Amino acid sequence: MAESWVHALLICALAPCVLTLFSRTGSEPSQRNISITLNPGHSDPPPPGGDLLYVRSVGPNDSLHFLFCSQGAPTLLLVHSNSTEATVKVNWDDFLNRSSSGTVNVVPEGSVVYSGALIFSKVWEYDDVNDTADPGSDLFPPYELQDMTWSRLNLSTLSAQLCGVYKDTNGTICVQLSVFEDWGRSELWPRLLHNPDSAQLAFRLDGLSSRSSQSRFFLELTAVGRAPLEMVRTIRSIDDEFTPSIFTVSQWLFNSSGPGSNLTPGTSPGFVQWKPVAYRKPAATLEVATPLRHWSPQHQDPLPTATASKLIFGFYSNNTPTMGINISFGLSGEPFYDATNYLSWTLLVGVGDPPLDSFSVLVWSILAVGLGTPLLLLLVGGVWLCVRKLSAPAPSSYEPIN
Ligand SMILES: *[C@@H]1O[C@H](CO)[C@@H](O)[C@H](O)[C@H]1NC(C)=O
Ligand SMILES: *[C@@H]1O[C@H](CO)[C@@H](O)[C@H](O)[C@H]1NC(C)=O
Ligand SMILES: *[C@@H]1O[C@H](CO)[C@@H](O)[C@H](O)[C@H]1NC(C)=O
Ligand SMILES: *[C@@H]1O[C@H](CO)[C@@H](O)[C@H](O)[C@H]1NC(C)=O
Ligand SMILES: *[C@@H]1O[C@H](CO)[C@@H](O)[C@H](O)[C@H]1NC(C)=O
Repeated sequence: MAESWVHALLICALAPCVLTLFSRTGSEPSQRNISITLNPGHSDPPPPGGDLLYVRSVGPNDSLHFLFCSQGAPTLLLVHSNSTEATVKVNWDDFLNRSSSGTVNVVPEGSVVYSGALIFSKVWEYDDVNDTADPGSDLFPPYELQDMTWSRLNLSTLSAQLCGVYKDTNGTICVQLSVFEDWGRSELWPRLLHNPDSAQLAFRLDGLSSRSSQSRFFLELTAVGRAPLEMVRTIRSIDDEFTPSIFTVSQWLFNSSGPGSNLTPGTSPGFVQWKPVAYRKPAATLEVATPLRHWSPQHQDPLPTATASKLIFGFYSNNTPTMGINISFGLSGEPFYDATNYLSWTLLVGVGDPPLDSFSVLVWSILAVGLGTPLLLLLVGGVWLCVRKLSAPAPSSYEPIN
């Protein structure tokens, strides 16, 4: 009897560990080596009109090439090559003059298995007079991010920040890129989980003078690539441990079942992922969290985007499939922008399937206690009944015949 007790206890105690192990198997650590070059192949002084940052990230069998550029609207281009030798070549004169496309390349060209780009195109502001948070009317002229004056890229170890000012307005719009050699999670909320196949972008609207006292903002993002990102999927979870009060994650994915796809259905060559939350102060806490809303992605004319970003024209020319999406900050009843004059939002861009939070040890332990306790009680009850039955004088089936 003592033995089954020990077994029962062991099973209950070990269950969380075993389950955690199982839930991790999908995310085998795969490391990459990163090297970063600013304006690769360009001699000093830096090129006029903006920087081109090149992050080369080499894994055991493949390489990723991130290009982050401020020649026009801020653009992140991600190229996945199945060669560890691949590298980026830029023909600087033609690239800067836009005299032809194909001025930015990953060579050997035949090794490219996927490429996709994300452009921060426009920041829209609208006067939300009736606090409906519906940006249908009362739009102000947008901030065209291609017309901003961008600072030089401010580099630190594995990140780079770009800030811009718009004509004669106050405040800055910043985009910060972070890349990773390993799995992890940034310290700042929303604490997105990242893997070595992804890069994180933080977008900030800092100190803009709003044009009405009830202004709200939304962002127009554009994606360019031969495999266009066509749908946004929302994944729900019961776990908000890392992003308090947020139980969903949104994934903007290539529609792998669509026409022209030669990929295995269910696998994604590339993705953009975010949690539907922005923060109204630099020190992100629950009190300054504000929800996010997105509209469905729309097909766009490729030409304006190729005009807005030199990197898009240089790599893709002006006829590659282009999709746009609007993402708005704040819902009805939430404070307006001028309450704090600040908004920050974080997203993840990468190749392959997006990393997903598995249940944490804490949640498994809670589940184990919650489910394990009743089981344990049943077990104890069962054992007790058995013991009672065995120790009670067995009612003999052979009643002695008197
Ligand atoms: C790399 O390729 C080798 C041999 O083709 C294979 O055994 C290994 O699993 C691959 N590693 C990764 C991380 O894909
Ligand atoms: C790399 O990708 C190219 C293009 O998809 C393909 O033709 C080639 O066979 C691949 N090479 C390896 C080693 O997988
Ligand atoms: C705001 O509400 C007023 C009164 O209901 C209405 O007349 C007006 O059209 C609304 N404005 C917007 C932008 O919806
Ligand atoms: C910029 O800020 C200053 C000081 O707060 C203010 O006087 C000025 O009107 C602002 N400019 C714009 C274009 O909003
Ligand atoms: C975003 O919203 C603006 C303003 O309503 C609209 O002009 C634009 O077409 C929208 N973009 C997308 C991709 O839906």
